Amino acid sequence: MKPRKRHVLLLWILLCSGMTEAIEPISTTIAVGMAAALTGFLASYPNILYYFHECCRPEWISFNKTGLKTDLDSKLFGQHIASRIILKAVNGFMSNDNPKKPLVLSLHGWTGTGKNFVSKLIAENIYKEGMDSSFVHVFTSTLHFPHPSQNATYKSQLQQWIKGNVTNCERSMFIFDEMDKMHPGLIDSIKPYLDYYDKLDGVSYRKSIFIFLSNAGGESIIQKTLDFWKGGRDREEIELRDLEVSLSLSVFNNNQSGFFHTSLIDKNLVDFFVPFLPLEYQHIVQCAKAEMKARGLEPDPDVADMVARDVVYFPKLERVFSVKGCKTIESKLDYYT
Ligand SMILES: *[C@@H]1O[C@H](CO)[C@@H](O)[C@H](O)[C@H]1NC(C)=O
Ligand SMILES: *[C@@H]1O[C@H](CO)[C@@H](O)[C@H](O)[C@H]1NC(C)=O
Ligand SMILES: *[C@@H]1O[C@H](CO)[C@@H](O)[C@H](O)[C@H]1NC(C)=O
Ligand SMILES: *[C@@H]1O[C@H](CO)[C@@H](O)[C@H](O)[C@H]1NC(C)=O
Repeated sequence: MKPRKRHVLLLWILLCSGMTEAIEPISTTIAVGMAAALTGFLASYPNILYYFHECCRPEWISFNKTGLKTDLDSKLFGQHIASRIILKAVNGFMSNDNPKKPLVLSLHGWTGTGKNFVSKLIAENIYKEGMDSSFVHVFTSTLHFPHPSQNATYKSQLQQWIKGNVTNCERSMFIFDEMDKMHPGLIDSIKPYLDYYDKLDGVSYRKSIFIFLSNAGGESIIQKTLDFWKGGRDREEIELRDLEVSLSLSVFNNNQSGFFHTSLIDKNLVDFFVPFLPLEYQHIVQCAKAEMKARGLEPDPDVADMVARDVVYFPKLERVFSVKGCKTIESKLDYYT
């Protein structure tokens, strides 16, 4: 190993394990040697900050409550129910020093309504590195587990990954995208990790976060939102309990929706089911403006209107909801600006 590399590694070990904890069990001579090496290193490489690696420590992982609220209020549009549940759930979990089980969220809704986006906001307000953090893991069914015939292999692989990663850092976050396309047996295999166990094989999963994303239940959410719209009622009047029944019927009892067949449901391991409503014209306008702002442009209402008019809406007759939610806004903006 090159001296420079060795120094970086040494520093990383010291930083990640905490100076004192690392030094205490070692003899003073070695500690002095290490300190000398460190001082020498600092002197010769003043730009050492570049080498700081992410570690499982509060410097890199700490929840910003205000940040999450601000983000949900200013960047997520048309999701008053989801916004409220997410804030409450994450706040409660992150402010509890001794949670009894990991936080398990299941986000449901039509494509482009913000499920991935919300996961990203949560990650960004917990991990300094956001989605790039080495403690945030995304599994996409069609990408990571494409072949049903290999479900046995996937099962043990997934278990090992989760165990390995939580062993490294108990504050790990796992996002499972396209849950509806996942083999039910596969999700059952991680069930023990979501449960109320103090420790499994010496590993505690109670500070980890699991987020499941799926379109399952999307149709019943749309139907309910459409009913409100047709009744001339404000969508903000829709409450969780208006959706719960239809969501549970279409999700839990639907044999197509894979994972919900499983004992995750029976055992109440999912803490919150979060519905995402389909987005309307005015939300597309908001998304377009927010995207312009994010690009450092002055939000132009005319451009935002053009973008929103260019989006396809359904149902065919009423044309109320955006088919792709806010998903295609970025490319449309490229075209109009
Ligand atoms: C938390 O988020 C707020 C709002 O985004 C931001 O102003 C603040 O600097 C953040 N705090 C920390 C410690 O990152
Ligand atoms: C894998 O899937 C097949 C059907 O696709 C099923 O018969 C088998 O039990 C599954 N194996 C495991 C370990 O879940
Ligand atoms: C952590 O998860 C990733 C997948 O996101 C996997 O590639 C890696 O091997 C896991 N790490 C451990 C130590 O198991
Ligand atoms: C799924 O449910 C539908 C009706 O709800 C039924 O017709 C179909 O046979 C079921 N499929 C399986 C694989 O159980």
